[in-house]
Amino acid sequence: MRILSPSMLSADFGHLDRDTRMVDRSAAEWVHIDVMDGVFVPNISFGFPVMKAIRKATDKCLDVHLMIVEPERYVARFAEAGAGIVTFHYEATKDVAGCIGLIRGTGAQVGISIKPATPVEVLREVLPQVDLVLVMSVEPGFGGQSFIPGSLDKIRALRAMIREQGLRTIIEVDGGISARNACELFDAGADALVAGSAVFGAADPEAEIRRMLEA
Ligand code: DX5
Ligand code: ZN
Repeated sequence: MRILSPSMLSADFGHLDRDTRMVDRSAAEWVHIDVMDGVFVPNISFGFPVMKAIRKATDKCLDVHLMIVEPERYVARFAEAGAGIVTFHYEATKDVAGCIGLIRGTGAQVGISIKPATPVEVLREVLPQVDLVLVMSVEPGFGGQSFIPGSLDKIRALRAMIREQGLRTIIEVDGGISARNACELFDAGADALVAGSAVFGAADPEAEIRRMLEA
C-alpha cells in the first residue's frame, strides 16, 4: 500500500480552501490534520472550525493526528467533525484501551502514535485493536524538521511485529519526509507517508505528491 497524506499544517491558511482543493485533485489519498494543544507539544495549531473548512473542500479521508493531552475528552468530537481516522498519542493518555474504545464506537478508524523516543515494543499488546500506527520521525510540534534516521529501524521492527501477529495494521510515518526519502520509507515497510513542507513548499505541489508516490 502506498498512501500520501499531505499535512495541512504547512498550507497557506489565507488560502485554505484553494490548498485543500489542490490536495483533493491530487494523487494523495488522505488529508493530514495536525491538532496541537500547547500542552502535549509546545505549539498550538488549530481545531474544529478550521477542520470544518477543510472538510467542506474535500471528500477525501481526513487523517486526524491529535497531539493533545487526555485525547479521550475529544476523540468523539473529531469523529463527528468528519475524521476518517482518529490518531492519538500513546504518551498522552493513561487510558489507551478506553481511548481506542471511544474512537471505535464512532465508526472512525483507530490510530495510535508514538514519539521518536518511545519504542515500538510498547504497542505489542494493543496492536490487534488498532487500524493504524503513526510513527513520528521528528519530535511532534512543528513542521519543517529533519527526519530522524533511527525511525527506519522502528518501521522495520513494527512491520515484523505486525507480520508475526498476522495483522493488517497500517504503518504511517510523519515528519521530515520528502521525495528524497519516500522510497526508502515505503521499502522499510511504511504504507502511508505524511508530508507538509515538502508538498506545500514545492513549486508544483501536485507533481511533488506524484514524485513521492512514484519514488
Ligand atoms: C509535526 C506534525 C507533522 C508535520 C510534518 O508535529 O505531526 O505532521 O506537519 O511536517 P513536515 O513534513 O514539514 O516535517
Ligand atoms: Zn502529523
